[in-house]
Amino acid sequence: MRGVHFPMAPDKFLHFLTLFILLPFSSSAFTPSDNYLLSCGSASNSTLFGRVFVGDSALPGLGFISEDQSVSVTQENPPLNSTTSLYNTARVFRGSSGYQLSIKENGTHLVRFHFSPFSAQSFELKSANFGVTVNGFAVLSDFSAGASVVKEFIFKIDGTFVEIIFIPSGSSGFGFVNAIEVFSAPPDLIIDDGARLISDARTEEYNNLTSQVLETIHRINVGGPRLTPFNDTLWRTWIPDDEYLVLNSAAKPVSTTQPPNYQGGGSSREVAPDNVYMTAQQMNRDNLTLDSKFNISWDFPVDSGGFRYLVRLHFCDIVSSALNELYFNVYINDYPAYTNLDLSVLAVHLLASPYYIDFVAGSHPPGVMRISVGPSDLSSPLRMNAILNGAEIMKIATLASLPMDKKKSHVWILVGSALAGYQVEEEEEEERN
Ligand SMILES: *[C@@H]1O[C@H](CO)[C@@H](O)[C@H](O)[C@H]1NC(C)=O
Ligand SMILES: *[C@@H]1O[C@H](CO)[C@@H](O)[C@H](O)[C@H]1NC(C)=O
Ligand SMILES: *[C@@H]1O[C@H](CO)[C@@H](O)[C@H](O)[C@H]1NC(C)=O
Ligand SMILES: *[C@@H]1O[C@H](CO)[C@@H](O)[C@H](O)[C@H]1NC(C)=O
Ligand SMILES: *[C@@H]1O[C@H](CO)[C@@H](O)[C@H](O)[C@H]1NC(C)=O
Ligand SMILES: *[C@@H]1O[C@H](CO)[C@@H](O)[C@H](O)[C@H]1NC(C)=O
Ligand SMILES: *[C@@H]1O[C@H](CO)[C@@H](O)[C@H](O)[C@H]1NC(C)=O
Repeated sequence: MRGVHFPMAPDKFLHFLTLFILLPFSSSAFTPSDNYLLSCGSASNSTLFGRVFVGDSALPGLGFISEDQSVSVTQENPPLNSTTSLYNTARVFRGSSGYQLSIKENGTHLVRFHFSPFSAQSFELKSANFGVTVNGFAVLSDFSAGASVVKEFIFKIDGTFVEIIFIPSGSSGFGFVNAIEVFSAPPDLIIDDGARLISDARTEEYNNLTSQVLETIHRINVGGPRLTPFNDTLWRTWIPDDEYLVLNSAAKPVSTTQPPNYQGGGSSREVAPDNVYMTAQQMNRDNLTLDSKFNISWDFPVDSGGFRYLVRLHFCDIVSSALNELYFNVYINDYPAYTNLDLSVLAVHLLASPYYIDFVAGSHPPGVMRISVGPSDLSSPLRMNAILNGAEIMKIATLASLPMDKKKSHVWILVGSALAGYQVEEEEEEERN
Protein backbone atom coordinates (compact mmCIF):
# COMPACT_ATOMS: atom_id res chain seq x y z
CA MET A 1 0.00 0.00 0.00
CA ARG A 2 1.50 3.30 -1.06
CA GLY A 3 -0.43 5.00 1.73
CA VAL A 4 2.00 3.96 4.45
CA HIS A 5 4.55 6.55 3.34
CA PHE A 6 2.08 9.36 3.73
CA PRO A 7 1.53 11.17 7.02
CA MET A 8 -2.01 10.24 7.95
CA ALA A 9 -4.06 10.42 11.07
CA PRO A 10 -4.58 6.93 12.50
CA ASP A 11 -8.33 6.95 11.83
CA LYS A 12 -7.76 7.83 8.17
CA PHE A 13 -5.31 5.01 7.87
CA LEU A 14 -7.81 2.61 9.35
CA HIS A 15 -10.42 3.83 6.91
CA PHE A 16 -8.17 3.06 3.95
CA LEU A 17 -7.20 -0.24 5.46
CA THR A 18 -10.85 -1.19 5.87
CA LEU A 19 -11.59 -0.41 2.25
CA PHE A 20 -8.59 -2.42 1.24
CA ILE A 21 -9.77 -5.48 3.13
CA LEU A 22 -13.39 -5.19 2.06
CA LEU A 23 -12.50 -4.70 -1.60
CA PRO A 24 -9.58 -7.01 -2.29
CA PHE A 25 -9.47 -6.17 -6.02
CA SER A 26 -9.28 -2.42 -5.53
CA SER A 27 -6.12 -0.44 -6.06
CA SER A 28 -4.53 1.25 -3.07
CA ALA A 29 -5.67 4.63 -1.80
CA PHE A 30 -4.61 7.72 -3.69
CA THR A 31 -1.62 9.57 -2.23
CA PRO A 32 -1.06 13.05 -3.71
CA SER A 33 2.58 13.98 -4.21
CA ASP A 34 1.81 17.60 -3.40
CA ASN A 35 -0.37 17.82 -0.33
CA TYR A 36 -0.71 21.08 1.60
CA LEU A 37 -3.36 21.34 4.31
CA LEU A 38 -3.08 24.67 6.11
CA SER A 39 -4.88 25.81 9.24
CA CYS A 40 -4.62 29.56 8.71
CA GLY A 41 -3.87 31.99 11.51
CA SER A 42 -3.06 29.13 13.86
CA ALA A 43 0.08 27.90 15.59
CA SER A 44 -1.37 24.45 16.20
CA ASN A 45 -2.71 21.63 14.04
CA SER A 46 -6.42 20.94 13.54
CA THR A 47 -8.13 17.82 12.27
CA LEU A 48 -11.06 17.76 9.86
CA PHE A 49 -12.53 14.43 8.64
CA GLY A 50 -9.39 12.63 9.76
CA ARG A 51 -6.95 14.96 7.95
CA VAL A 52 -4.40 17.05 9.80
CA PHE A 53 -4.31 20.72 8.82
CA VAL A 54 -0.99 22.22 9.87
CA GLY A 55 -0.99 25.59 11.66
CA ASP A 56 0.48 28.12 9.23
CA SER A 57 2.15 30.17 11.96
CA ALA A 58 4.31 27.23 12.98
CA LEU A 59 5.16 25.81 9.59
CA PRO A 60 8.84 25.72 8.67
CA GLY A 61 9.64 26.39 5.04
CA LEU A 62 6.37 28.14 4.33
CA GLY A 63 7.29 31.56 3.04
CA PHE A 64 4.97 34.43 3.79
CA ILE A 65 5.24 36.92 1.02
CA SER A 66 4.62 39.89 3.27
CA GLU A 67 4.13 38.94 6.90
CA ASP A 68 3.42 42.51 8.02
CA GLN A 69 0.33 42.57 5.83
CA SER A 70 -1.44 39.75 7.64
CA VAL A 71 -2.65 38.98 11.18
CA SER A 72 -3.83 35.83 12.92
CA VAL A 73 -7.27 36.04 14.53
CA THR A 74 -8.98 33.62 16.92
CA GLN A 75 -12.67 33.26 17.68
CA GLU A 76 -13.16 34.28 21.31
CA ASN A 77 -16.21 32.12 22.05
CA PRO A 78 -16.12 29.20 19.63
CA PRO A 79 -19.37 27.18 19.40
CA LEU A 80 -19.30 24.41 22.01
CA ASN A 81 -20.70 21.86 19.59
CA SER A 82 -18.11 22.39 16.84
CA THR A 83 -16.44 19.18 15.75
CA THR A 84 -13.19 20.81 14.65
CA SER A 85 -11.02 23.69 15.82
CA LEU A 86 -10.06 24.41 12.19
CA TYR A 87 -12.66 27.17 11.88
CA ASN A 88 -11.79 28.88 15.18
CA THR A 89 -8.84 30.68 13.64
CA ALA A 90 -8.34 32.70 10.48
CA ARG A 91 -5.67 34.72 8.80
CA VAL A 92 -6.70 38.26 7.94
CA PHE A 93 -5.00 40.01 5.01
CA ARG A 94 -4.91 43.81 5.25
CA GLY A 95 -2.96 44.26 2.04
CA SER A 96 -2.23 42.07 -0.97
CA SER A 97 -0.46 39.10 0.52
CA GLY A 98 -0.62 35.37 0.69
CA TYR A 99 1.27 32.11 0.40
CA GLN A 100 3.91 30.66 -1.84
CA LEU A 101 3.98 26.86 -1.79
CA SER A 102 6.57 24.81 -3.62
CA ILE A 103 5.26 22.13 -5.95
CA LYS A 104 6.81 18.76 -6.67
CA GLU A 105 4.60 17.63 -9.51
CA ASN A 106 3.33 19.48 -12.58
CA GLY A 107 -0.23 18.83 -13.66
CA THR A 108 -3.78 19.15 -12.41
CA HIS A 109 -4.17 20.21 -8.77
CA LEU A 110 -7.16 20.77 -6.51
CA VAL A 111 -7.20 24.01 -4.53
CA ARG A 112 -9.80 24.54 -1.80
CA PHE A 113 -10.41 27.61 0.33
CA HIS A 114 -12.42 27.26 3.54
CA PHE A 115 -14.23 30.38 4.73
CA SER A 116 -16.07 30.34 8.05
CA PRO A 117 -16.66 33.91 9.20
CA PHE A 118 -16.63 34.95 12.87
CA SER A 119 -16.06 38.15 14.87
CA ALA A 120 -12.73 38.70 16.55
CA GLN A 121 -10.26 41.40 17.49
CA SER A 122 -12.05 44.22 15.68
CA PHE A 123 -12.56 42.14 12.53
CA GLU A 124 -16.06 41.16 11.47
CA LEU A 125 -15.07 38.51 8.94
CA LYS A 126 -18.54 38.51 7.31
CA SER A 127 -17.88 42.03 6.08
CA ALA A 128 -14.59 41.18 4.38
CA ASN A 129 -14.54 41.85 0.67
CA PHE A 130 -11.65 40.57 -1.38
CA GLY A 131 -10.27 38.76 -4.39
CA VAL A 132 -8.00 35.71 -4.55
CA THR A 133 -5.46 34.90 -7.24
CA VAL A 134 -3.68 31.59 -7.75
CA ASN A 135 -0.54 31.92 -9.88
CA GLY A 136 -2.00 35.10 -11.32
CA PHE A 137 -5.46 33.70 -12.11
CA ALA A 138 -8.23 35.59 -10.34
CA VAL A 139 -10.22 32.64 -8.99
CA LEU A 140 -12.38 34.81 -6.72
CA SER A 141 -13.15 38.47 -7.21
CA ASP A 142 -15.28 40.86 -5.17
CA PHE A 143 -15.91 37.92 -2.84
CA SER A 144 -17.61 37.95 0.58
CA ALA A 145 -18.40 34.97 2.81
CA GLY A 146 -21.69 35.59 4.60
CA ALA A 147 -21.76 31.98 5.86
CA SER A 148 -19.40 29.02 5.96
CA VAL A 149 -18.41 27.93 2.48
CA VAL A 150 -15.70 25.90 0.77
CA LYS A 151 -14.62 27.05 -2.70
CA GLU A 152 -12.93 24.44 -4.88
CA PHE A 153 -10.89 25.01 -8.02
CA ILE A 154 -9.25 22.44 -10.29
CA PHE A 155 -6.49 23.39 -12.67
CA LYS A 156 -3.09 22.63 -14.07
CA ILE A 157 -0.04 23.99 -12.33
CA ASP A 158 3.14 24.14 -14.39
CA GLY A 159 6.10 25.46 -12.48
CA THR A 160 7.85 25.09 -9.21
CA PHE A 161 5.43 26.85 -6.87
CA VAL A 162 1.87 27.95 -6.26
CA GLU A 163 1.38 31.54 -5.25
CA ILE A 164 -1.93 32.39 -3.57
CA ILE A 165 -2.62 36.09 -3.05
CA PHE A 166 -5.53 37.64 -1.13
CA ILE A 167 -6.36 41.13 -2.34
CA PRO A 168 -8.67 43.34 -0.25
CA SER A 169 -11.26 45.22 -2.30
CA GLY A 170 -14.20 47.49 -1.59
CA SER A 171 -14.47 49.37 1.68
CA SER A 172 -13.79 46.50 4.11
CA GLY A 173 -10.06 46.78 3.55
CA PHE A 174 -9.28 43.15 4.35
CA GLY A 175 -9.66 39.55 3.23
CA PHE A 176 -9.46 36.33 5.24
CA VAL A 177 -9.26 32.56 5.04
CA ASN A 178 -9.61 29.78 7.66
CA ALA A 179 -8.00 26.88 5.81
CA ILE A 180 -6.42 26.06 2.46
CA GLU A 181 -5.91 22.75 0.67
CA VAL A 182 -3.60 22.36 -2.31
CA PHE A 183 -2.97 18.83 -3.58
CA SER A 184 -2.13 17.09 -6.82
CA ALA A 185 -4.99 15.34 -8.60
CA PRO A 186 -4.75 11.80 -9.94
CA PRO A 187 -3.76 11.97 -13.63
CA ASP A 188 -7.13 10.61 -14.82
CA LEU A 189 -9.30 13.18 -13.00
CA ILE A 190 -9.35 15.71 -15.85
CA ILE A 191 -8.31 14.64 -19.34
CA ASP A 192 -8.07 16.66 -22.53
CA ASP A 193 -10.03 14.49 -24.94
CA GLY A 194 -13.54 13.19 -25.09
CA ALA A 195 -15.67 16.04 -23.77
CA ARG A 196 -18.75 16.84 -25.89
CA LEU A 197 -19.69 20.46 -26.47
CA ILE A 198 -23.50 20.67 -26.50
CA SER A 199 -25.33 23.41 -28.35
CA ASP A 200 -28.58 23.70 -30.28
CA ALA A 201 -27.03 23.02 -33.66
CA ARG A 202 -24.88 19.96 -33.02
CA THR A 203 -22.50 18.18 -30.71
CA GLU A 204 -18.80 18.71 -31.26
CA GLU A 205 -15.63 17.69 -29.49
CA TYR A 206 -14.27 20.00 -26.80
CA ASN A 207 -10.52 19.76 -26.25
CA ASN A 208 -7.91 21.14 -23.85
CA LEU A 209 -9.97 20.72 -20.70
CA THR A 210 -6.80 20.51 -18.58
CA SER A 211 -5.84 24.05 -19.66
CA GLN A 212 -9.03 25.48 -18.14
CA VAL A 213 -9.63 26.70 -14.61
CA LEU A 214 -12.63 24.81 -13.22
CA GLU A 215 -14.70 25.93 -10.26
CA THR A 216 -16.92 23.31 -8.66
CA ILE A 217 -20.53 24.53 -8.47
CA HIS A 218 -22.49 21.29 -7.80
CA ARG A 219 -21.37 17.79 -6.85
CA ILE A 220 -24.34 15.45 -6.53
CA ASN A 221 -24.69 11.84 -5.36
CA VAL A 222 -27.85 11.04 -7.34
CA GLY A 223 -30.25 8.72 -5.52
CA GLY A 224 -27.94 8.46 -2.52
CA PRO A 225 -26.97 10.10 0.76
CA ARG A 226 -24.67 13.01 1.46
CA LEU A 227 -21.03 11.90 1.25
CA THR A 228 -18.48 13.71 3.36
CA PRO A 229 -14.73 14.12 2.71
CA PHE A 230 -14.36 11.12 5.02
CA ASN A 231 -16.17 8.91 2.50
CA ASP A 232 -14.45 10.24 -0.63
CA THR A 233 -11.15 9.31 -2.28
CA LEU A 234 -10.29 12.98 -2.95
CA TRP A 235 -11.94 14.37 0.20
CA ARG A 236 -14.91 15.83 -1.69
CA THR A 237 -18.44 16.45 -0.45
CA TRP A 238 -21.35 15.04 -2.51
CA ILE A 239 -24.90 16.07 -1.74
CA PRO A 240 -28.24 14.32 -2.50
CA ASP A 241 -30.19 15.26 -5.65
CA ASP A 242 -33.77 15.47 -4.28
CA GLU A 243 -34.06 19.24 -4.09
CA TYR A 244 -33.03 19.62 -7.75
CA LEU A 245 -35.58 17.18 -9.21
CA VAL A 246 -38.10 18.98 -11.41
CA LEU A 247 -40.76 16.31 -10.75
CA ASN A 248 -40.04 14.17 -7.71
CA SER A 249 -42.49 11.44 -8.67
CA ALA A 250 -40.65 10.82 -11.97
CA ALA A 251 -37.66 9.38 -10.14
CA LYS A 252 -37.21 6.32 -7.95
CA PRO A 253 -33.96 5.74 -6.04
CA VAL A 254 -32.15 2.44 -6.51
CA SER A 255 -29.08 1.14 -4.69
CA THR A 256 -26.86 -1.90 -4.48
CA THR A 257 -24.63 -3.30 -1.74
CA GLN A 258 -22.14 -4.70 -4.25
CA PRO A 259 -19.04 -2.54 -4.84
CA PRO A 260 -18.75 -1.38 -8.47
CA ASN A 261 -16.65 -3.19 -11.09
CA TYR A 262 -14.09 -0.54 -12.05
CA GLN A 263 -12.59 -1.22 -15.51
CA GLY A 264 -9.78 0.33 -17.53
CA GLY A 265 -11.28 2.83 -19.96
CA GLY A 266 -14.10 3.63 -17.57
CA SER A 267 -14.22 5.63 -14.41
CA SER A 268 -11.87 5.05 -11.49
CA ARG A 269 -12.41 5.16 -7.75
CA GLU A 270 -10.64 8.57 -7.72
CA VAL A 271 -12.92 10.03 -10.39
CA ALA A 272 -15.85 9.19 -8.09
CA PRO A 273 -16.01 6.92 -5.05
CA ASP A 274 -17.91 3.61 -4.76
CA ASN A 275 -20.84 5.25 -2.98
CA VAL A 276 -21.64 7.44 -6.00
CA TYR A 277 -21.89 4.43 -8.32
CA MET A 278 -23.79 2.25 -5.82
CA THR A 279 -26.87 4.51 -5.87
CA ALA A 280 -28.89 6.08 -8.71
CA GLN A 281 -32.26 7.48 -9.67
CA GLN A 282 -34.22 5.52 -12.26
CA MET A 283 -37.59 6.10 -13.96
CA ASN A 284 -40.43 5.64 -11.52
CA ARG A 285 -42.87 3.49 -13.49
CA ASP A 286 -44.76 2.22 -10.46
CA ASN A 287 -48.26 3.52 -11.18
CA LEU A 288 -48.03 3.93 -14.94
CA THR A 289 -49.03 1.98 -17.97
CA LEU A 290 -46.32 -0.11 -19.55
CA ASP A 291 -45.52 2.19 -22.44
CA SER A 292 -45.69 5.64 -20.83
CA LYS A 293 -42.60 7.62 -21.66
CA PHE A 294 -41.17 10.49 -19.65
CA ASN A 295 -37.86 12.05 -18.66
CA ILE A 296 -36.33 12.55 -15.24
CA SER A 297 -35.06 16.14 -15.07
CA TRP A 298 -32.96 18.10 -12.62
CA ASP A 299 -32.57 21.90 -12.62
CA PHE A 300 -29.32 23.18 -11.15
CA PRO A 301 -28.87 26.89 -10.46
CA VAL A 302 -25.74 28.33 -12.10
CA ASP A 303 -24.41 31.84 -12.77
CA SER A 304 -26.26 33.72 -15.46
CA GLY A 305 -23.19 35.45 -16.88
CA GLY A 306 -22.91 33.47 -20.11
CA PHE A 307 -20.34 31.01 -18.78
CA ARG A 308 -19.64 27.53 -20.04
CA TYR A 309 -19.76 24.61 -17.65
CA LEU A 310 -18.20 21.18 -17.53
CA VAL A 311 -21.08 18.79 -16.81
CA ARG A 312 -19.69 15.42 -15.74
CA LEU A 313 -22.34 12.71 -15.54
CA HIS A 314 -21.63 9.43 -13.73
CA PHE A 315 -23.33 6.19 -14.74
CA CYS A 316 -23.24 2.63 -13.47
CA ASP A 317 -25.83 0.08 -14.56
CA ILE A 318 -27.08 -1.22 -11.22
CA VAL A 319 -30.66 -1.69 -12.54
CA SER A 320 -30.31 -4.34 -15.26
CA SER A 321 -30.27 -8.06 -14.63
CA ALA A 322 -28.46 -8.76 -17.90
CA LEU A 323 -26.39 -6.91 -20.51
CA ASN A 324 -28.00 -4.96 -23.38
CA GLU A 325 -31.29 -4.25 -21.60
CA LEU A 326 -30.79 -0.57 -20.87
CA TYR A 327 -30.78 2.15 -23.55
CA PHE A 328 -31.54 5.75 -22.74
CA ASN A 329 -31.10 9.35 -23.86
CA VAL A 330 -29.35 12.20 -22.10
CA TYR A 331 -30.40 15.83 -22.62
CA ILE A 332 -28.70 18.99 -21.42
CA ASN A 333 -30.83 22.13 -21.49
CA ASP A 334 -33.30 20.13 -23.62
CA TYR A 335 -30.68 19.56 -26.34
CA PRO A 336 -29.87 15.94 -27.14
CA ALA A 337 -26.48 15.33 -25.50
CA TYR A 338 -26.19 11.55 -25.88
CA THR A 339 -28.74 9.44 -27.76
CA ASN A 340 -29.18 5.69 -27.21
CA LEU A 341 -26.61 5.53 -24.45
CA ASP A 342 -25.69 1.86 -24.06
CA LEU A 343 -23.68 1.28 -20.90
CA SER A 344 -23.21 -2.37 -21.78
CA VAL A 345 -20.99 -1.36 -24.69
CA LEU A 346 -19.34 1.69 -23.08
CA ALA A 347 -18.53 -0.13 -19.87
CA VAL A 348 -16.81 -3.06 -21.58
CA HIS A 349 -19.70 -5.55 -21.43
CA LEU A 350 -19.91 -5.71 -17.70
CA LEU A 351 -22.81 -4.70 -15.49
CA ALA A 352 -22.27 -2.31 -12.60
CA SER A 353 -19.14 -0.95 -14.25
CA PRO A 354 -18.63 2.78 -13.58
CA TYR A 355 -18.49 5.15 -16.51
CA TYR A 356 -18.57 8.92 -16.82
CA ILE A 357 -19.17 11.30 -19.72
CA ASP A 358 -17.99 14.92 -19.87
CA PHE A 359 -20.22 17.50 -21.53
CA VAL A 360 -19.57 21.20 -21.97
CA ALA A 361 -22.61 23.45 -22.12
CA GLY A 362 -23.79 26.99 -21.48
CA SER A 363 -26.93 27.71 -19.50
CA HIS A 364 -30.18 28.18 -21.44
CA PRO A 365 -32.25 29.79 -19.99
CA PRO A 366 -29.67 31.86 -18.11
CA GLY A 367 -29.08 30.74 -14.56
CA VAL A 368 -30.28 27.13 -14.93
CA MET A 369 -28.55 23.95 -16.08
CA ARG A 370 -31.17 21.30 -16.87
CA ILE A 371 -30.03 17.69 -17.01
CA SER A 372 -32.52 15.04 -18.17
CA VAL A 373 -32.43 11.31 -18.82
CA GLY A 374 -35.24 9.50 -20.60
CA PRO A 375 -36.10 6.39 -22.59
CA SER A 376 -34.53 5.68 -25.97
CA ASP A 377 -36.41 4.37 -29.00
CA LEU A 378 -34.22 1.28 -28.77
CA SER A 379 -35.70 0.30 -25.39
CA SER A 380 -38.19 -2.49 -25.39
CA PRO A 381 -41.39 -1.39 -23.58
CA LEU A 382 -40.76 -4.01 -20.89
CA ARG A 383 -37.30 -2.73 -20.11
CA MET A 384 -37.78 0.97 -20.60
CA ASN A 385 -35.63 2.84 -18.09
CA ALA A 386 -33.08 5.63 -17.70
CA ILE A 387 -30.59 6.22 -14.89
CA LEU A 388 -28.17 8.73 -13.42
CA ASN A 389 -25.74 7.98 -10.56
CA GLY A 390 -23.87 11.25 -10.11
CA ALA A 391 -23.50 14.73 -11.54
CA GLU A 392 -20.82 17.39 -11.23
CA ILE A 393 -21.14 20.89 -12.63
CA MET A 394 -18.00 22.99 -12.86
CA LYS A 395 -17.78 26.52 -14.16
CA ILE A 396 -15.11 27.01 -16.80
CA ALA A 397 -13.41 30.27 -15.91
CA THR A 398 -12.35 32.44 -18.79
CA LEU A 399 -9.36 34.18 -17.35
CA ALA A 400 -6.01 35.08 -18.76
CA SER A 401 -2.73 35.74 -17.04
CA LEU A 402 0.72 36.78 -18.06
CA PRO A 403 3.63 34.45 -17.41
CA MET A 404 5.07 35.07 -13.97
CA ASP A 405 8.09 37.26 -13.58
CA LYS A 406 9.88 36.33 -10.37
CA LYS A 407 11.47 39.75 -9.86
CA LYS A 408 8.10 41.47 -9.91
CA SER A 409 6.11 38.76 -8.23
CA HIS A 410 3.66 41.27 -6.80
CA VAL A 411 2.52 42.61 -10.13
CA TRP A 412 -0.30 40.64 -11.68
CA ILE A 413 -1.90 41.78 -14.87
CA LEU A 414 -5.35 40.32 -15.21
CA VAL A 415 -7.80 40.44 -18.05
CA GLY A 416 -11.33 41.34 -17.07
CA SER A 417 -12.89 44.66 -16.20
CA ALA A 418 -13.84 43.66 -12.65
CA LEU A 419 -10.17 43.17 -11.89
CA ALA A 420 -8.79 46.45 -13.20
CA GLY A 421 -8.33 47.80 -9.67
CA TYR A 422 -6.11 44.95 -8.56
CA GLN A 423 -3.23 45.90 -10.75
CA VAL A 424 -3.06 49.39 -9.26
CA GLU A 425 -2.94 48.08 -5.72
CA GLU A 426 -0.21 45.67 -6.65
CA GLU A 427 1.85 48.36 -8.32
CA GLU A 428 1.58 50.56 -5.25
CA GLU A 429 2.90 47.71 -3.22
CA GLU A 430 5.72 47.24 -5.68
CA GLU A 431 6.74 50.89 -5.16
CA ARG A 432 6.86 50.45 -1.40
CA ASN A 433 9.26 47.51 -1.72
C1 LIG B 1 1.46 19.25 13.04
O1 LIG B 1 1.41 18.27 12.02
C2 LIG B 1 2.64 18.11 11.35
C3 LIG B 1 2.40 17.19 10.17
O2 LIG B 1 1.58 16.12 10.52
C4 LIG B 1 3.68 17.58 12.32
O3 LIG B 1 4.92 17.44 11.65
C5 LIG B 1 3.83 18.57 13.47
O4 LIG B 1 4.69 18.04 14.44
C6 LIG B 1 2.48 18.86 14.10
N1 LIG B 1 2.63 19.95 15.05
C7 LIG B 1 2.11 19.94 16.26
C8 LIG B 1 2.31 21.17 17.08
O5 LIG B 1 1.47 18.99 16.68
C1 LIG C 1 -24.08 23.95 16.57
O1 LIG C 1 -25.18 24.67 17.10
C2 LIG C 1 -25.65 25.69 16.21
C3 LIG C 1 -26.68 26.50 16.95
O2 LIG C 1 -27.52 25.70 17.72
C4 LIG C 1 -26.21 25.03 14.95
O3 LIG C 1 -26.70 25.99 14.07
C5 LIG C 1 -25.09 24.24 14.29
O4 LIG C 1 -25.59 23.54 13.15
C6 LIG C 1 -24.47 23.25 15.27
N1 LIG C 1 -23.28 22.66 14.64
C7 LIG C 1 -22.99 21.36 14.72
C8 LIG C 1 -21.73 20.94 14.08
O5 LIG C 1 -23.73 20.56 15.29
C1 LIG D 1 6.97 21.97 -14.60
O1 LIG D 1 6.90 22.66 -15.81
C2 LIG D 1 7.75 23.82 -15.88
C3 LIG D 1 7.57 24.48 -17.23
O2 LIG D 1 6.23 24.52 -17.59
C4 LIG D 1 9.21 23.41 -15.69
O3 LIG D 1 10.02 24.56 -15.65
C5 LIG D 1 9.34 22.65 -14.37
O4 LIG D 1 10.65 22.16 -14.23
C6 LIG D 1 8.38 21.47 -14.33
N1 LIG D 1 8.45 20.87 -13.01
C7 LIG D 1 8.53 19.56 -12.83
C8 LIG D 1 8.59 19.09 -11.42
O5 LIG D 1 8.55 18.77 -13.76
C1 LIG E 1 -5.07 23.19 -27.22
O1 LIG E 1 -3.82 23.48 -26.66
C2 LIG E 1 -2.77 23.42 -27.61
C3 LIG E 1 -1.47 23.60 -26.86
O2 LIG E 1 -1.59 24.55 -25.83
C4 LIG E 1 -2.99 24.51 -28.65
O3 LIG E 1 -1.97 24.43 -29.63
C5 LIG E 1 -4.34 24.26 -29.32
O4 LIG E 1 -4.63 25.30 -30.22
C6 LIG E 1 -5.44 24.19 -28.30
N1 LIG E 1 -6.68 23.81 -28.94
C7 LIG E 1 -7.81 24.44 -28.72
C8 LIG E 1 -9.00 23.88 -29.44
O5 LIG E 1 -7.91 25.39 -27.95
C1 LIG F 1 -19.21 7.90 5.67
O1 LIG F 1 -18.30 7.84 6.75
C2 LIG F 1 -18.93 7.87 8.01
C3 LIG F 1 -17.87 7.92 9.05
O2 LIG F 1 -17.06 6.79 8.99
C4 LIG F 1 -19.83 6.64 8.16
O3 LIG F 1 -20.49 6.68 9.40
C5 LIG F 1 -20.86 6.65 7.04
O4 LIG F 1 -21.63 5.49 7.09
C6 LIG F 1 -20.17 6.73 5.69
N1 LIG F 1 -21.19 6.89 4.68
C7 LIG F 1 -21.22 6.15 3.60
C8 LIG F 1 -22.33 6.42 2.65
O5 LIG F 1 -20.37 5.30 3.37
C1 LIG G 1 -48.73 4.29 -6.47
O1 LIG G 1 -49.85 3.57 -6.03
C2 LIG G 1 -49.76 3.14 -4.68
C3 LIG G 1 -50.94 2.25 -4.39
O2 LIG G 1 -52.08 2.74 -5.01
C4 LIG G 1 -49.72 4.38 -3.78
O3 LIG G 1 -49.59 3.98 -2.43
C5 LIG G 1 -48.51 5.21 -4.15
O4 LIG G 1 -48.47 6.40 -3.41
C6 LIG G 1 -48.50 5.54 -5.63
N1 LIG G 1 -47.25 6.15 -6.00
C7 LIG G 1 -47.15 7.24 -6.74
C8 LIG G 1 -45.76 7.68 -7.04
O5 LIG G 1 -48.12 7.84 -7.15
C1 LIG H 1 -37.26 14.35 -22.93
O1 LIG H 1 -36.76 15.69 -23.06
C2 LIG H 1 -36.37 16.03 -24.39
C3 LIG H 1 -35.78 17.41 -24.34
O2 LIG H 1 -36.64 18.32 -23.78
C4 LIG H 1 -37.58 15.96 -25.31
O3 LIG H 1 -37.18 16.27 -26.63
C5 LIG H 1 -38.16 14.56 -25.25
O4 LIG H 1 -39.32 14.49 -26.03
C6 LIG H 1 -38.48 14.17 -23.82
N1 LIG H 1 -38.87 12.78 -23.79
C7 LIG H 1 -40.01 12.38 -23.27
C8 LIG H 1 -40.28 10.92 -23.35
O5 LIG H 1 -40.81 13.16 -22.76
